[in-house]
Amino acid sequence: MTNIHTDSEDLPTNTSANEHIQEIVSQAVNRRGFLKMGSGVAAASFLAGPLAGCANLHQRNTSLMGFKPVAASSADTVTVAEGYTATPFVPWGTPLFSSGAGAHWRGDGSESAADQARQVGDNHDGIHFFPIDGRSSSEGLLVMNHEYTTPLKGGLYLTLFGLPAAPANTLDRVNKAINAWGCSVIHIRKNASGEWAVVLDSTYNRRFTSASPMELTGPAAGDTLLQTRADVSGRKVLGTINNCGNGFTPWGTYLTCEENFNNNFGTTLEPKVDGRTSAQKRYGITAGTSEYGWETQHDRFDYKKEPNESNRFGWVVEIDPFDPRSTPKKRTALGRFKHESAAWNLTKDKRIVVYMGDDQANDYIYKFVSDRPYVQGDKSANSELLDSGKLYVARFDSGETTGDFMGTGEWLLLDKQANPVLKADANFPNQAAVLVHARLAADKLGATKMDRPEWVSVHPVTGEVYGTMTNNAARTTTDDSNPREKNIYGQIVRWREAGGDAAATRFQWDIFALAGNPTVPGHQATLKAGSANVNADNTFNSPDGLAFDRDGRLWIQTDGNYSNVGDYANQGNNSMLCSDPKTREIRRFLVGPKECEVTGITFTPDHRTMFVNIQHPGETGKGASHWPEGGKALPRSATVIVTKNDGGIIGS
Ligand code: FEO
Ligand code: CA
Ligand code: CA
Repeated sequence: MTNIHTDSEDLPTNTSANEHIQEIVSQAVNRRGFLKMGSGVAAASFLAGPLAGCANLHQRNTSLMGFKPVAASSADTVTVAEGYTATPFVPWGTPLFSSGAGAHWRGDGSESAADQARQVGDNHDGIHFFPIDGRSSSEGLLVMNHEYTTPLKGGLYLTLFGLPAAPANTLDRVNKAINAWGCSVIHIRKNASGEWAVVLDSTYNRRFTSASPMELTGPAAGDTLLQTRADVSGRKVLGTINNCGNGFTPWGTYLTCEENFNNNFGTTLEPKVDGRTSAQKRYGITAGTSEYGWETQHDRFDYKKEPNESNRFGWVVEIDPFDPRSTPKKRTALGRFKHESAAWNLTKDKRIVVYMGDDQANDYIYKFVSDRPYVQGDKSANSELLDSGKLYVARFDSGETTGDFMGTGEWLLLDKQANPVLKADANFPNQAAVLVHARLAADKLGATKMDRPEWVSVHPVTGEVYGTMTNNAARTTTDDSNPREKNIYGQIVRWREAGGDAAATRFQWDIFALAGNPTVPGHQATLKAGSANVNADNTFNSPDGLAFDRDGRLWIQTDGNYSNVGDYANQGNNSMLCSDPKTREIRRFLVGPKECEVTGITFTPDHRTMFVNIQHPGETGKGASHWPEGGKALPRSATVIVTKNDGGIIGS
C-alpha cells in the first residue's frame, strides 16, 4: 500500500532497545568492493555451499530470461515486454452475479454498500490462481486481496464514490468502504475465443469483506485478549482488513495477510486524548480520529469503546475457495503483526513452514513451523496444520566479517514455556499473549530491525528464501543486512537454512540486490548506486511484491516513489522486474500506469498466462490516471492478464 499522506509503515513503532546488530564503523572498503566487483563477491561465497550440487537451475549456462528489457516510463498505460500482451481484467466493481444488487457497473461510483458486496473489491493486491481440477490452465478460481480504498485526509475516499466526491462518512458510505475491502473468489474460464472471462453466478464466486463472519483458531482463540462485548467467545470475528500480500498452501487453500489494520481503529471519544495501551501504540492504533473513519459508524472500530477488537486483526487468514460454505480461519499460531505475505516450504520431515514479513520500518521477519507433517492428497488431514506449531523471529548477524552484506542468522523461538526469557516475563501470562503481542515478544528476544519486510518467496528447487525490504527512510543505525541510513531504495535479502532444512534454527544470508540509482550525480561509488546488478537500465526503488515462478525466475514488483525526478530520476512509474538468481541479472518486464503500484502475481500451471495486479492508479486524485478505460473514466485498480504472443511461457 502506498499511503499518500501518512505512510504509517514508514514510522517505526519499535521503541525496544534491540541493538541493530553491529554498528559498522568503517565499511568504505567493503562497500566499494560490493559495488565494484559485485554482489559477485558475496555471491561466490554464499553460493559455494550446498547449492552447488543442488539444482539444474544452477548448472545452466544460459539466462532464464528471453525477453528484451522494457524502458522506464511515466505513461498512463501498462507497458509490457515486446512480444507480450497485457489485458486489463476484473477491475474494481466488476459484477460477480448477473442479477440483484451490484449486477451492473455504473462507472460513476454511485453503487451502494449492498452493490459493492457483490462486485470485485478495490485496490487489488495479492492474487492466486487455483486450477479448477488441480491441473487446468483454462479454468480456475482467481482469488485476490482488496487491500483498501484510497483515502484522503479526514476519512474521505478518492474514487469509491466518484471523483471529485468528498462526502462525510455516512453509514452507507462507511459500509461501502467496508465492503470494498477484503477478498474476492472469482470463477474464471477461457471462452470459445480463448479469452478469459468471469463465470457469472458461479457458486464459487464470493466476496469476503471487512464484515464477513470469520473464525479465530489456534492457541490464542478464545483468550480474554480476543473477547469483545459482541463476541464473548473470543472466536468469532467480523471481517478481514487490509489484505495485502498473500500466500497459498499445497493443500489448495488461500492465505490472505492482514497488514495495516491499525489505520482502521480510532476513537470518537475525546479524540485529542491518547488512550492507547503500550501494546496498541506498538501496533500503531490511531490515537484520535482514524484514517478511514469507520469508528464514526461502528463502535467496534473505536478502541476506547471496544479495546480488544483490534486484537482480532493482524493475522494470516486461511480461505478454502473450493468450499463455498467455508468460513475463513484466522490462524493465531502464526502470530499477530502487520502481515505482508506468507510463503510456504516443507521441512525434511514434511512439516509445513510459513515465512512472513512484518511491514513496518524497523520490524521483523518470522517463520512458523507446524507440529504435524503435511500429508499429500489428504485435505482434511492438512486442514488444521496451521493451528499448532512453533513461531520464530529472525536475528540477522554480521557473521565473521562485518560490512560484507552477508552473514549468519538465528531463528528465535516465540514460546512462553520453552523460551526462558518469555517464561520469566510477566507481561506474557500465556502463549496467547505471546501470539497476540508477537511484536512485543520479539522485541524482548533481540530480533533484527529490518527495513520494512514485505514479500517473501521460496526458490522452487533450492529452498532458499528471498525477501524484499522495501525501504526505511527512518533508519539511523545500519547493520550488514540493512546497510544504509535513510534507506530510500530498499533491498532484497535471501537466506539459506542450515542443512537445507526449513526446520533449522540457524541460517546463512546475503543481500541479493541492493536497489539504487546509479544515474543520479553523486551516487556513483556509494551505496545509493545499488549493487552491481543494478544499472541505468533497470534502476528501481522500493521492491515489494516478490515471487518465483516454477522455473526459478524471480519476479520483483515495486511500490515506491514514481516522481521520476531527483533520487528517483529514470525510474518511471512502478514496475515489475525479473531476475535470474544464478546470474543476478535484473530486467524490467512491465511498467504500470501513473500513480499505481504493481503488486500480486500468479500463473496458470502451464505458465502461459500470468495475472498481475495494478493497484490504485491515479492515487493522488489529481486526475493523472484514467487507466484502464482511458478518456475521463475513473481510474480503477485491476488485474492484468499477460500472455506471450507466440503462446510461450512467460519470461522465457
Ligand atoms: Fe500493503 Fe506492505 O504493502
Ligand atoms: Ca558480514
Ligand atoms: Ca505490499
